[in-house]
Amino acid sequence: MKIAIGSDHGGYELKEKIKSFLILENHDVTDFGTNSLASVDYPDYGKKVGEAVVNGTYDFGIVLCGTGIGISIAANKVKGVRAALVYDDNTAYLAKAHNNANVIALGGRTTSEETAISIVNTFMNTTFEPRHQPRLDKIKNIEGKE
Ligand code: RB5
Repeated sequence: MKIAIGSDHGGYELKEKIKSFLILENHDVTDFGTNSLASVDYPDYGKKVGEAVVNGTYDFGIVLCGTGIGISIAANKVKGVRAALVYDDNTAYLAKAHNNANVIALGGRTTSEETAISIVNTFMNTTFEPRHQPRLDKIKNIEGKE
């Protein structure tokens, strides 16, 4: 799969671990930063990954900050992004099956490497259930009213 990934400093270390795992599994990963533990602002990275997913050819995006909360809020401000803050296999499954999320958000300070890898695997191996499409259409309508 073609995956865009980005984080602030709070998500940096977990981003690196997820990236290494995905590359080992032969996925095509583009890293939008950050590239160190130096303090940066999560909205910048939520925007970069969100725009890449909406405008590019990525299958989905992964964003991380300390909790995943701030960067999911930021990514969701990009029109067309459906970013889901996921914290276990069940929420990862539902984010795809029900919400067809195109970005998942994780917390570098709240989620272990083992759980994060499991979440990413679950999300990648789940398919959207089209019966939920009318609800996604309603979300799209909200965006149209901005
Ligand atoms: C940065 O310290 C922290 O606020 C950020 O990583 C994130 O957790 C915000 O939601």
